[in-house]
Amino acid sequence: MSAAFLQVEGLKVSYGHIEAVKGIDLQLHEGQITTLVGANGAGKSTTLLALSGLVKKAAGRVTLQGQDLSALPPHKIVSAGMVQVAEGRATLTTLTVRENLELGAYTRRDGRAQRMDDLERIYALFPRLKERADGLAGNLSGGEQQMLAIGRALMAKPRVLLLDEPSMGLAPIIVQDIFRTLREINKGGLTIFLVEQNVRQALKIADRAYVIETGRIVLEGSGQELLRDPKVQDAYLGG
Ligand SMILES: Nc1ncnc2c1ncn2[C@@H]1O[C@H](COP(=O)(O)OP(=O)(O)O)[C@@H](O)[C@H]1O
Ligand SMILES: [Mg+2]
Repeated sequence: MSAAFLQVEGLKVSYGHIEAVKGIDLQLHEGQITTLVGANGAGKSTTLLALSGLVKKAAGRVTLQGQDLSALPPHKIVSAGMVQVAEGRATLTTLTVRENLELGAYTRRDGRAQRMDDLERIYALFPRLKERADGLAGNLSGGEQQMLAIGRALMAKPRVLLLDEPSMGLAPIIVQDIFRTLREINKGGLTIFLVEQNVRQALKIADRAYVIETGRIVLEGSGQELLRDPKVQDAYLGG
């Protein structure tokens, strides 16, 4: 077994007296999609916020390819290659699609030519964004805004992409589209950590999966194993 690409050990996060994440361990392997699924309030977003450095860890260690990210501020975590897709499709609605994508590259130190190459790659992945490149992001549909948020995160050249419920609020057919695109991005070699309440869809595309309940990991396995697990079926897949 190869060493984990991203390793999370003993992560704890508290909000005042509430311990939202109670000492969890996660391992992400390079080139895989790993998912963390669970009900509303289980601690999924808190886990991601802690990885991105946006909430304080009460305990725990996060290492990416051996580099300890635990104490770094958010922008250094992004520069180190761990990039979270903006939540709730928080695109900047008064900027154009292209401007939003270009903003995603703000932490990069490479040249304009490379950024333009990446922009073209993202347009190839999301042709709809290319068509609407000069339009305001605020005029995009919900699904298109989610794609823009993903595209913007890709412009930061992540080594691992973090997503918090990209399916939220979207029609099932759009969700399938988004998940198909995540698979495609992953086939290009990118490691993905997907947090979802849409357990069925997330397990379907995941290589590895963890189930979180009230701040603790209660099950782990391959996506396929967990799809077949009676406990998962009872609790999350409607039996
Ligand atoms: N800013 C906050 N202040 C206090 N409690 C919070 C805050 N954010 C989340 N919580 C609590 O922490 C727990 C985990 O929340 P969260 O990580 O958002 O769960 P999930 O993303 O799985 O729905 C819940 O009990 C929630 O009410
Ligand atoms: Mg959440």
